[in-house]
Amino acid sequence: MATILVINGPNLNMLGRREPEIYGSETLDDIIEGLIELADEYNVRLFDFQSNAEHEIVERIHQAMDDGTNYIIINPAAFTHTSVAIRDALATINVPFIEVHLSNVYKREAFRKHSYFSDIADGVIAGLGTKGYQLAFEAAIEKLEA
Ligand code: DQA
Repeated sequence: MATILVINGPNLNMLGRREPEIYGSETLDDIIEGLIELADEYNVRLFDFQSNAEHEIVERIHQAMDDGTNYIIINPAAFTHTSVAIRDALATINVPFIEVHLSNVYKREAFRKHSYFSDIADGVIAGLGTKGYQLAFEAAIEKLEA
C-alpha cells in the first residue's frame, strides 16, 4: 500500500486560533480528518506529523527512509524561510515531496518570498487555504499511481 507522510511545521498546531484572517478557521485536526477520508477513498496509508521543533522534523524525515513512506506533503511553516537542515534532510532521503502553504506567501512580507524547499520540490501550492492539502494529496496519489 502506498504511504504518504504529511508534515506540518511550527505554529500549525494553533490553526483555527492563529491569525484566522490569514490562515482561516479550520484546525489542523480538520485538515488531517479530510486527508484521512481521501486516504481511505484511494486506499493509501497516511502518516501525520506536526512539530514546533526543527530537529524533530529532521528526525521524522530521516525515519521516512525506513518506514515505507513513498511521498511527503510538507508545510514547513516558518522553517520554509530559514531551514537548511530540513531541506538537507529531504534531499538526504530522496523521497519526492510537495510543499504546501495555506497563505499566498508571495503577497505577504518580503522574507516569506524565499523558500529553502521550492527548488527541490515536485510541486508547490500556496494561497489556497486547506484546499491546498487536498490538492497536494490527490497529486501525490496520481504520481504514485503513474
Ligand atoms: C505558512 C506561511 C509561512 O510563511 C508561515 O511562517 C507559516 C505558515 C502557510 O501555510 O501559509 O507558519 O507556511
